[in-house]
Formats: sequence, structure tokens, C-alpha cells
Amino acid sequence: MMTPQENDTLTRVGPAAPMGRMMRRYWHPVCASSQLPKPDGDPLRVRLLGENFVAFRDSSGAVGVLDELCMHRRASLAIGRVEDGGIRCLYHGWKFGRDGTIQETPNFCDERFRARMRAPAYPAREAGGMVWAYIGPRDKEPAFPKFGFFDGPDENRVILRINTAANYLQLWEGGCDSSHVGVLHSNRANPAWMKKGFEAATDEDYNPGAITVPDNAPDLEVENTAYGFHYVAKRQGAPLADGTPTASVRVTPVMFPTGRIIPAPAFQFYVFETPQDDFKTSTYLVCHGDKPVNREDIKRIMGLDDERFWREADCEFRATWDDRLGQDRSRMAEDWTGFRGIEQEDAIIAISMGAIVDRSKEVLIPADMAVVRLRHRLLESVRRVEAGEDPIGVHVADYTDVRSLVDTTIAGADTWQAHVSGNMSEARR
Ligand code: FES
Ligand SMILES: [Fe+2]
Repeated sequence: MMTPQENDTLTRVGPAAPMGRMMRRYWHPVCASSQLPKPDGDPLRVRLLGENFVAFRDSSGAVGVLDELCMHRRASLAIGRVEDGGIRCLYHGWKFGRDGTIQETPNFCDERFRARMRAPAYPAREAGGMVWAYIGPRDKEPAFPKFGFFDGPDENRVILRINTAANYLQLWEGGCDSSHVGVLHSNRANPAWMKKGFEAATDEDYNPGAITVPDNAPDLEVENTAYGFHYVAKRQGAPLADGTPTASVRVTPVMFPTGRIIPAPAFQFYVFETPQDDFKTSTYLVCHGDKPVNREDIKRIMGLDDERFWREADCEFRATWDDRLGQDRSRMAEDWTGFRGIEQEDAIIAISMGAIVDRSKEVLIPADMAVVRLRHRLLESVRRVEAGEDPIGVHVADYTDVRSLVDTTIAGADTWQAHVSGNMSEARR
């Protein structure tokens, strides 16, 4: 059980909050590359950890991330002009390079002033179809981490950004909670469940809801890793011909500060729950594999093909209580939720809890073990930073061998850990 104070520590991410200080020690995604489609195109206003920034692509095609408000008298650069190697404020025309250099000040001819001052600019990178920034202390900038989805051709990857009105932790906890998959997502995971049957959903190899056995009360085991932890959900499998019992295991690595990898039969789903502020989260969903993947298929399975809930143009998830979060109760005789699609269901559940849920009022059970570990690891990482140490995983620079494991049958001496040997388990070091 969390105390109200611990809940506050876990959920507040602004610059003056301990969690905000801890989160600022890492690189974060600020937008999808596709949101800055061309050099000198429209700038994008982005919100990260309770602060506003402007992201833009300059004439050379490189991305820049600056404070949103102009250093002169604080007009928004998000409505500025992007041209000739920089971004220009509409108010008095000051122009800034992506590194914060002041290139022009039309209403002040003093060159020494321009040379002496600099606009607040942040280290920015583009990799894996996303733009990343580091907004923490200058002397603590960590190595830029590499993920498996940075490799391979673009057609093997789909990136969806979903801006949801809920605290990041509510969304992230859903990713540490295997027992909800066969229930909340039963329309995708086990469509016969509500009729007391089992029907494995194995037709779509990009379905992250695919579970292979009818066991909704998995045993969880958790192991700390260099970057956070990984956990297994063990479901009871059918015995082998000689009677040997089996387990169906499904492994999820949880990567600080906001990431996890969810398995689908032929793809890995990387998910980052990036806090815009205490009350809103940008979920980045990255489907990646060794073969091409179709954006429309992923939108459909996620329930993001329904424009009442989500649109490509602004990435906002739109459910409100005005119409019971968009639920269609007339469908509930046939399907479980009256919603359609995995991300639609996850976002709805997080919103239904209220913007910041009160964790001091929960009733927890063994199936919540990985959720509890997430909270403890987060609090430990906050404690480390407040004590002047480094946060969990900040030195891990290469995640390319970290994998999730889709439902896999093990028996006898076989262990789940043997199937994810690149996951940096601390127990196996
Ligand atoms: S406020 Fe931006 S140039 Fe004056
Ligand atoms: Fe889910």
C-alpha cells in the first residue's frame, strides 16, 4: 500500500518535484519524426515534464528543441517562422539557431549582445522515427540510448503517439499488469472468455494481446535489471504427452524512465509513457519487427482507427464523460468492453481512474506484484537522485538485446530467463 505522500512523489513530475528531477536525468521522446515532416516546416509546441518547448526542423533538416517562449519578451516561438537555418520570433524578429545561437535581433544592432547571449536550447537527437531531447542538468547528460527499433528499414516500424488525459503512472502500470490482458483485452486476447470458453487469438502476428492458454490468474515473477526490471507472467499450459506439466511464459522488460516492451507473435511493441505534465501523458507506441508492418493494421488492432477517439492530425485521445467515455453498451452482449482495440481500452481505463489515482485506497493482490515493483523501483531511483547519486539505468546505453518474450511453453529444467538472456537480469550477473 502506498501512502498519500508516496503517491504524490510517484506522480508529480514538474521541475520542482523529486520525480521531476529524477525524470530529467534521461533522454525523452518529444514527438514523432513525422510531426516535423520537412525542413523549414511548421514548428511544434511540445510539453514535457510540466514545461513547454518548441521543436522544429531547420533548413538543413536537423531538429532543434528550445524553450517555447522567446528569450526577449516571451512570445511563443511555436507560432514563429522557421527559415534560413533557424526559428524566428514574430514579435520583434529575433532569430535563433537550433543550438540557441542568436542569429539576428532586428530591433537591436549590437553584435556583442548577440554574441554574449544564448537562447535556452536542449540537446536533441532523431532516431528510430522519433525526436528525443535531454532537458536535465548540462553536466549530467547521459549517453543517448539505443533501442532495437532504431535498426532496420522504416517499413518494419509503425509509430503511434497518443496524448491521454491521465498521469503517466496509470498508463505505465497497465504495462506491468499481465493479468488484465485476458480480461480487459479479451476481445483480442480470448474472445470466447465471456462465454466461458477459450479461443486463442493467433490469426494476427502483430497482436500484442495474443495469449495462448486460458489462464487469467498468471503467477508473476520479477527480477531487477540494470535498467529497471523484467517480469514474467506464467500461465498454466497443457501437460506434455508424458504428463510433464508446462507453463506458458510471457516476459516484459520495464526500462526506466518510462519504457517497456510488450510482445506480439512476430513483433516487439516498445511503449514509452512520456509525461507531458502531472495530468497528461504522451504514449509512444512503436511496433517493430523483422518484416514490414502496416500502419492501418496497427491502428485497427489498437482501436485508433476510430476518429471519435483519436486522429493522426493532433494525436489527442478524445474520450470524455459527456458520453460515458464513448462506450457503446449496445455491443456488450457480444464483446467484453463496449470499446474496441487494445490502446483504446488501456487509455479508457487510465482516464476512468481520474487524472491522478489515489493509491492509498487500493486493495492489492499477488497479480499486482510487478506494479508494486515498478513503484518501489521508481521511489528508489528518486531517493538515489535526491542523495546525489545516479538514477536507475541512466548508464545503460544499449538496449538492442533487451527483448520481450511472446507466450512460450517451457517444461522441466527450461527457465523463462534462458529465453531472454540479453535482458541484463541482476540475479544472473
Ligand atoms: S518577444 Fe521575441 S523578439 Fe521580442
Ligand atoms: Fe492493456
